[in-house]
Amino acid sequence: MRWSYPEQFSTFASHYASDRRQPMSTFLAKKTGILGGGQLGKMLAQAAADWHLPIYALDASRDYPAGLCATGMVVGSYQRREDVLAFGRQMDVLTIEIEHVHTGALRELQAMGKVVHPNPVALELIKDKGAQKEFFQKEGLPTAPYQLFPSAQAIAQAVQQGRLSLPFVQKTRTAGYDGKGVQVVRTSSDVSHLLQGPSVVEPLCDIDKELAVLVARNARGECAVYDPVEMVFHPQANLVELLVCPARLPNDLAQQAQQLARRTIEAFDICGLLAVEMFLLRNGTLWLNEVAPRPHNSGHHTIEAAATSQFQQHLRAIHNLALGPTALRKPAAMVNLLGAADSQPGRAHWQGVDRALQLSEVYVHNYGKAFSRPFRKMGHATVLAPTVGQAIERARQVQQWIRIEGVQ
Ligand SMILES: Nc1ncnc2c1ncn2[C@@H]1O[C@H](COP(=O)(O)OP(=O)(O)OP(=O)(O)O)[C@@H](O)[C@H]1O
Ligand SMILES: [Mg+2]
Repeated sequence: MRWSYPEQFSTFASHYASDRRQPMSTFLAKKTGILGGGQLGKMLAQAAADWHLPIYALDASRDYPAGLCATGMVVGSYQRREDVLAFGRQMDVLTIEIEHVHTGALRELQAMGKVVHPNPVALELIKDKGAQKEFFQKEGLPTAPYQLFPSAQAIAQAVQQGRLSLPFVQKTRTAGYDGKGVQVVRTSSDVSHLLQGPSVVEPLCDIDKELAVLVARNARGECAVYDPVEMVFHPQANLVELLVCPARLPNDLAQQAQQLARRTIEAFDICGLLAVEMFLLRNGTLWLNEVAPRPHNSGHHTIEAAATSQFQQHLRAIHNLALGPTALRKPAAMVNLLGAADSQPGRAHWQGVDRALQLSEVYVHNYGKAFSRPFRKMGHATVLAPTVGQAIERARQVQQWIRIEGVQ
C-alpha cells in the first residue's frame, strides 16, 4: 500500500503532528476515510472541502477521480483486509463509495472503536442481492417475489422441470453493477446463456416507472428524505436515458415512496445515505428493487437542484450532525455522460462542451477519467429549468452535443 499525499507517510499515526504546515482550523477534526476513489469519492471530497474536513480515499491509483479533491489518496485495495485495516487505523470515521469492500476488515475497525457508516452488517446484506431480498422479506418491505439458485445449472434445471416459468429476470448475487449481472431470460434459447454463479431470480415485473428515493439518517435517528427521482428510459434501447426530479407522480404515491424509503433505512439501521431503487408497477403497487448505502447516481442533481447536496448530506449524516433540508429548488434533469458507443477505448477526448454551456443552467461535471471506453461513466450534466419538461428537453440536447471518444 502506498501513501501518496501530503507526504509518503509510513503511517498516518498523527497527520497533524507529522505535517509541517500549521494545523488546520476546523470545527470537525475527524479524519474521514472513503473506501473507493471514483467519482462518488471525488464529489464527497469536494463537499468535504467546504468544511476543510480532512478526507482520504483508498483505491488502486492516485490518478482516480478522487485524487484531485481528497486531502490524500492512499493507493491500495479496498477488497484486501490488510489494506483496509492499515487505512482505517489512521482514520476516525470510515465510509464507502462502493459496496464491494472487505467488510470483515470494517468489522474489525468498528471493534477497535472506529466509526463505520454504513454499518458492516447492513453492508454485508446489501452487497449480496440474495441476502438483500431475504432481508426485505423478513422486514415486510414490499418487493418482487424471488427464488435463490446456487448456479446457472440449477436455474436451467428448474426451467426444464417446470418449476420456473419464462420470462424471468436473473441477477447474480454479488459483484453486479450498472446493469451488469442482470439479464432478462425470455426464451428457452436464452436459458442456454445464463449468467454463471449464485443468482436471484424474479418474475419480469410490469413496470410503469422506475423511481429512486434518497434518504439520509444520522446516529441521533433523524431522517431526511429527498423528492423521488424518475428514471426515464430510452423507448427503443431500454437504457436509462436520463433522471428527472421531481418524478412525475401523484402526490400520494410520491409520499408513499418517501415513506417506504424511510422505513427501509430504519430497518437496516443505516447512518449516512441510502438510495432506494423502486418499481412502480402498472397496477399502482410500489416494490423495492434494490438499495445502495452511499451517495448514488440518482442523486447527482441534488448538487445544484436541492437545498443540500447528497454529498454534504452524507457527511452530515456519518458525522452525526444536523441533516440539511432536502427541498428541490427547481425541476432538474440529469444525464450521464458516457464514452461513445461507437468509439474505440482510448484516451478520453471530449467534444461539444462549449456548445452545451451556452444553454442556461447547464452544469457539466467531468470525473477526470483519463481513458474512455464505450458506455463508461465519464461525467454527468444536470440541467435546471422552470418545468420538468423543459429540463428533459435541454438535457437530451446536452446529451447529443457532448461526445466523448477514445483516441489512440
Ligand atoms: N424483476 C424485474 N422486472 C423487470 N425489470 C427488472 C427487474 N429487475 C431488474 N430489472 C431491470 O434491470 C435493471 C437493473 O437491475 P438492478 O437494479 O437489480 O441491477 P444493477 O446491476 O444493480 O443495476 P444498477 O447498478 O444500474 O442499479 C433495473 O433498473 C430494471 O430496469
Ligand atoms: Mg439498480
